[in-house]
Amino acid sequence: MRTHYCGQLRAEHVGETVTLCGWVDRRRDHGGVIFVDLRDRTGVSQIVSDPERTPTSYPAADDLRNEYVVRITGRVTQRPPESLNPKLATGEVEIYADQIELLNAVRKPLPFQVSTSETETVREDLRLKYRYLDLRRERMSRNLQLRHQVVKTLRRYLEDEHQFTEVETPILNRSTPEGARDYLVPSRVHPGDFFALPQSPQLFKQILMVAGVDRYYQIARCFRDEDLRADRQPEFTQLDMEMSFMTQDEILDLNEGLICHLIKTIKGVDLPRPFPRLTYAEAMDRYGSDKPDTRFGLELVNVSDIVQGSGFKVFADAVSKGGIVKILPIPGGNEAISNVRIKPGGDLFNEAAAAGARGLAYIRVREGGEIDTIGAIKDNLTAQQKAEILSRTGAEAGHLLLFAAGDTATANKTLDRLRQVVGKELGLIDPDQLNLLWVVDFPMFEWNADEKRLDPLHHPFTAPHPDDMEDLKTARALTHDIVFNGFEAGGGSIRIYQPELQQQVFELIGLSAAETRDKFGFLLEAFEYGTPPHGGIAYGIDRLVMLLAGEDSIRDAIAFPKTQQARCLLTNAPSAVDDKQLKELHIATVQKPKG
Ligand code: AMO
Repeated sequence: MRTHYCGQLRAEHVGETVTLCGWVDRRRDHGGVIFVDLRDRTGVSQIVSDPERTPTSYPAADDLRNEYVVRITGRVTQRPPESLNPKLATGEVEIYADQIELLNAVRKPLPFQVSTSETETVREDLRLKYRYLDLRRERMSRNLQLRHQVVKTLRRYLEDEHQFTEVETPILNRSTPEGARDYLVPSRVHPGDFFALPQSPQLFKQILMVAGVDRYYQIARCFRDEDLRADRQPEFTQLDMEMSFMTQDEILDLNEGLICHLIKTIKGVDLPRPFPRLTYAEAMDRYGSDKPDTRFGLELVNVSDIVQGSGFKVFADAVSKGGIVKILPIPGGNEAISNVRIKPGGDLFNEAAAAGARGLAYIRVREGGEIDTIGAIKDNLTAQQKAEILSRTGAEAGHLLLFAAGDTATANKTLDRLRQVVGKELGLIDPDQLNLLWVVDFPMFEWNADEKRLDPLHHPFTAPHPDDMEDLKTARALTHDIVFNGFEAGGGSIRIYQPELQQQVFELIGLSAAETRDKFGFLLEAFEYGTPPHGGIAYGIDRLVMLLAGEDSIRDAIAFPKTQQARCLLTNAPSAVDDKQLKELHIATVQKPKG
């Protein structure tokens, strides 16, 4: 039907007769001369029609409207100097249309302007409902192409450079414990039984190692029924990998090679290697986060030892109850951040409160080391304590010190949030910088106060650190998360491969022998038959694409995403089903049908 794509034409095509197909991006009538920007996925070409030079196409050109689908044949012509468009790849030429064939019209008013020249922001619910129109837009079309390039690059590298085999694992499964709620699928043939959609292919990939596959990967769809955020979807895609007979260092090295190759291919940037490595403990200490954005400083400073037993009760109590007192020192913060913002009702106060903080103490450092703060702090800290705080934080005149005091988790969360807000606000982040690092040695378990039990921090198949075998409850684990500009882009670990140790970990997280047999009997049994040491990692493809595209929302990296309320606005899923279908599945709902 066509000889070229719309984005392909250049000066070298001048004089050729070409046929293009696409959508009318914009139609302009300049006093009897009609200009049409014709668009396809490669870009836009300018089509010209007027009654004198192209009388055969003029009536059809006159009838065109935005988003009509057309086929145009015409001569490629050099644009006159005054209408050259250097911003457009095809901006040196235009096509005089001899024929315009309308392939399909638009029959309803457009819900929004699709044109690539449109900069107006369209409401996201409209974009998702009319996703086919949204995906025609340049930005989304670029993101789809980028995603395709990312997946292609990852596949090629793993297969061609490192002999990975792609293996598909089932979607209809038993539940995999990754910590989220499962999506369930009722079984028709086994009344009352359910499949779970995989939260990840974790168990299958480990079984593949027992099976001798040695190096497995998969572009794997995962499903998690969890609270959604800007970087989370209920249905998302992992690059999932597992390797046998490799140490953690070897796995990290191979993965750095993969990521460097990806970034080089997509961005043309050589990342320095090896990537920095922080332990979980260091990351929490210095940034209050296990996924620190290290594109900027503003490191946290622990002053618990200085203020313990001080006259200021908030600080003293925090420490005596086993918590901490930490500071976010902000150079120039005196000028940039007013008291109104730190006091109750202020935006920074609210940010801290959202993290669970009950207050936001501060010190402003003036010339000569004088400090400005609330009376309770000024009066209750000794001169020596004040001096030690200033010296440990490196505070100089102009510094604002923001304090978090309380249990360790809340204090860290508070200052992590504040650090990110302030880092952005003060323009400390270079948006072009690509910052990748490993965070290793997460604890094996965290205490779940609601359920009164230990929960695995990664998942229960993660091997304990060999130096910490004495007490598994407090052991570090052989984990590795990869952090990309403050986002967790991937995570994995070295696995347990001895049935006895695996059994012990199941016991520690409160699974009874019967539950273990029922849920994981097949895994423990497989481990009895000669299991190689193994480990792996999974990347969030959607997150990687979001970061590489410079988007703020994971939804802009996915062709058909769900909303924050886990709905598809295009198809209106989820939806009610017929009683007949439910009956077949042996399901009764307690929910009354809606209106
Ligand atoms: P984990 O649960 O850390 O590990 O997931 C791996 C990566 O998947 C991405 N991710 C998500 N992306 C979008 N929406 C979500 N809801 C979502 N949840 C996770 C993140 C994350 O780093 N089986 C293990 C991997 C392993 O141990 O090898 C696992 O799934 O980028």
